[in-house]
Amino acid sequence: DTQHTPPRAVPLEPSAVVAVVGAGAMGAGIAQVAAAAGHLVKLVDAREGAAAAAIDGIRAQYRKLADKSRMTAEAAEAAGRRLVAAAGLGDLADAALVVEAIVENLEAKRTLYRELEAIVGDDCIFGTNTSSISVTSIGATLRRPERLAGLHFFNPAPLMALVEIVSGLATDKAVADTLFATAEAWGKTPVHARSTPGFIVNRVARPYYAEALRVLNEGGADCATLDALMRDCGGFRMGPFELMDMIGHDVNFAVTRSVWNAFYNDPRFTPSLIQQELVDAGFYGRKNGRGFFDYRDGAVRPAP
Ligand code: NAI
Repeated sequence: DTQHTPPRAVPLEPSAVVAVVGAGAMGAGIAQVAAAAGHLVKLVDAREGAAAAAIDGIRAQYRKLADKSRMTAEAAEAAGRRLVAAAGLGDLADAALVVEAIVENLEAKRTLYRELEAIVGDDCIFGTNTSSISVTSIGATLRRPERLAGLHFFNPAPLMALVEIVSGLATDKAVADTLFATAEAWGKTPVHARSTPGFIVNRVARPYYAEALRVLNEGGADCATLDALMRDCGGFRMGPFELMDMIGHDVNFAVTRSVWNAFYNDPRFTPSLIQQELVDAGFYGRKNGRGFFDYRDGAVRPAP
C-alpha cells in the first residue's frame, strides 16, 4: 500500500457561487475570470454604484473578446449574465468562495472577513488577493482561520497567468489545494507559496522598483530612458515606471511599506520619497491620469 497516491484536489464546481468583495481594478478582473469559468459571481463594493459600474466594464470586455473571436458571442452574453451586483455582504450567504480585493490594509481585511464569517456557511472558503499583507495575520482574528488562504492574482487578472496560492500558518492544506485546483480550472497557472512578506513575485520585484527609483532620485537617468532600457534592451515586458503607474502608486507604495515593515525596516526595502510625494499629491498613475507619466489627454508623456 506504499504506492498509494493522494487524491487530486478538486476545483470548485462551476455551479458554486463566487463572491468578490472590492470592485476595483483587481476585483473586476477576478470577477471577469470567475464568471467566464461558469460561476455565478456576486460583486460587492463599499462605494455606491462601483459594483454595477465594474459589471458594465466586464461585459464590455467580454464583447471585445467576442469581437476578436477569443470567445463566442453566446459565451460572452452568458458570462455577462452570470455577474450580479450585490447590495452588501448580507447577500453573500450562499458563496462557496469569497475573494477579497479591497484596500491593502490589515485592519480593513480582518474586519471584512470577521463580518463575513457571521454570514457565510461553514464550508465557504476565503481567498484574499492581498499583495503583501501576512495571510497568517489576516486570518488570526477569525473563528476559523484555517479556511483562509491567499489567492493572489496579478494585474491585469484576465491576462496574467500566475496566481500565488498563499498558505498562512493556520491555513488548511485542503483549502490551499482547492484554490490551486480552482485557479487551474480557471485557466491560470497557480503556484503554492508560504506567507512570507511580499510572497514570491512582489518580494523579488521590490528591487526592480526600488533601484529604479534610486537611480531617478540620484539624477542618473529619467523615467522614460530607464523604462525604454529595461523594456527594449532588458527584455522586461514593462519598464519599472510605467509598471508602477499601471499598478497604482497608492497600492504599490502600501505594498512596499508593508514588506519594509514586515522585515523590521530592512533598508533594502525602504520606500521611496518620490513615491510618497506621488501618493500625497493623489497622482496614483494610470487610474486617475497622472503618475510618472501624464495620461490625461490620452497621450503618454513624462509628467513635468
Ligand atoms: P482599487 O483601489 O482599484 O480597488 C479597491 C476597491 O475596494 C475600491 O473599489 C474600494 O471602493 C473597495 N473597498 C475598499 N474598502 C472596502 C471594504 N471594506 N468593503 C468593500 N469594498 C471596499 O485596488 P486594487 O488595485 O484593485 O487592489 C485591491 C487589492 O488587490 C489590494 O489588496 C491590492 O494590494 C491587491 N492587488 C493589487 C494589484 C495591483 O496591481 N493593483 C495586483 C495584485 C493584488
